[in-house]
Amino acid sequence: MNHNVNEIKKRRTFGIISHPDAGKTTLTEKLLLYGGAIQQAGAIKARKASKHTTSDWMAIEKERGISVTTSVMKFNYRDFEINLLDTPGHRDFSEDTYRVLTAVDSALMVIDSGKGVEHQTEKLMEVCRMRNTPIITFINKLDRDGMEPLDIIADIEDKLQIECSPLSWPIGMGKGFNGVYNLYKKEIHLFSPGHVKKKREDIVITDLSDPRLDEILGAQAAELREDIELIEGATDPFELKHYLNGTQTPVFFGSAINNFGVKELLDTFVEMAPSPGPRDAFTRKVSPYEKPFSGFAFKIQANMDPAHRDRIAFIRICSGKFTRGIKVFHHRIGKSVTFANATIFMANERENISEAYSGDIIGIHNHGTIMIGDTFTEKEVLKFSGIPNFAPEFFKKVILKSPLKAKHLQKGLKQLAEEGVIQVFRPIISNAYILGAVGALQLDITMARLKSEYGVDSIYEHSSYNVSRWIRCKDSKEMARFEHENKSNIAIDSEGTKAYLATSEWDLNYCMKQWPEIEFHKTREINNQDQVKA
Ligand code: G4P
Repeated sequence: MNHNVNEIKKRRTFGIISHPDAGKTTLTEKLLLYGGAIQQAGAIKARKASKHTTSDWMAIEKERGISVTTSVMKFNYRDFEINLLDTPGHRDFSEDTYRVLTAVDSALMVIDSGKGVEHQTEKLMEVCRMRNTPIITFINKLDRDGMEPLDIIADIEDKLQIECSPLSWPIGMGKGFNGVYNLYKKEIHLFSPGHVKKKREDIVITDLSDPRLDEILGAQAAELREDIELIEGATDPFELKHYLNGTQTPVFFGSAINNFGVKELLDTFVEMAPSPGPRDAFTRKVSPYEKPFSGFAFKIQANMDPAHRDRIAFIRICSGKFTRGIKVFHHRIGKSVTFANATIFMANERENISEAYSGDIIGIHNHGTIMIGDTFTEKEVLKFSGIPNFAPEFFKKVILKSPLKAKHLQKGLKQLAEEGVIQVFRPIISNAYILGAVGALQLDITMARLKSEYGVDSIYEHSSYNVSRWIRCKDSKEMARFEHENKSNIAIDSEGTKAYLATSEWDLNYCMKQWPEIEFHKTREINNQDQVKA
């Protein structure tokens, strides 16, 4: 055991998954208020509001400058050190949103009680499932009339294929929302809706048969007793190990905007959520308690300062300790580099730090030498796995306005692909550039950066592709036959991996049925093992 054990054990590195408008920003703000990281509600919200009005390139840049401070929010709560990683949503939704989840140890899922499970949550959940990330669920907006609690639970179990175990249960909803029963601690917490004059948050009742309940809740008291009896019989009992292996999610109910149920959520989160765990590398598992430093880059933020054109690489520490000036090996380029300065991100500012531990995220300034997926270690040749590219869903064909700029276009697209901004496909039957993105904003940013950084004037043309999968086949003859018969759907990405581009899910499924020996993959590891230089 080394001396970093306590530092690591008290760390919680997590992200919030939700559909836009479910209440992620509101909840984040309340968490930061508990952590003392911000002083007043509205600080994060104000930034978010300013984001919506942006559309031109300068504004995007500005917006990205702002979003970097919200990319990682570090705060303390009780004896814990919490790293909350932002999962950009709305127009910001991109491959970064997915990739952030490869750097967390657990997730919090926010669901709008009026809407149940929505599309974006389903997509983010798929990413969590890749690493069996433990998830705590918060069902929000109970102060509004919404779906019945049991129906929301059934919806989560059905759509997300995860067992739910309620640890709190709402007493009414909408105007009749009066509080929650904490099944874990066996306590009732009362909520004071706007029209109730006497605040009753301080009344804590620990016994469901307490007659004070009938006095305060009237008929709801009997309903609650019945509900609890019913759900204790109908839902799965909570099992910490099932939560930790990602097969069960503890569920809380509350209202973020009213700060109701948030403290219970945060207390349970810090107690239950895992501290940094072992990470998979291609050759072995790396324990967070190992002494030598190791980490990987999962996000690159470019042009933080337009005057310098610098880039910041977000590195998740997987083992050891970062100290200022540490010398590490950059395996992809086969060179030793010094991390002279690292930035750590506080809720509303950036700070230079002198040390950081497993689970922490550090920001390293560089001029394009760091790519997503790069591993850094003190000595050992190592490459962390599980930092993939995700199958894009938006496609555009790039048309160059001036043919003289062909080389610039090529260079620009190569670098932007390396940075993880966009994916670039070259169809095998033409010289076209097809760009693929998980979120539409990635396409806008690519176009703007091609112009401002590479002097390339280009436009987008419609592409008939809407779905893509990376393809592989153990039998090289079968692969050749597949390629020959599907020429117009095959393209090569920027790392030389073959992909199948289809016009629709239906076409893809049809093709998959026709070619059972071909493997179709939704993700592809970035610069994999053979590119590691010893
Ligand atoms: P997001 O980051 O997930 O997109 O959601 P955000 O927190 O911005 O919340 C979306 C909307 O839902 C906001 O309203 C917010 O005030 C509201 N909201 C969040 N939590 C609750 C809750 O517990 N109960 C109710 N009733 N509403 C909640 P908005 O009108 O879009 O913005 P604003 O004008 O309130 O800022």
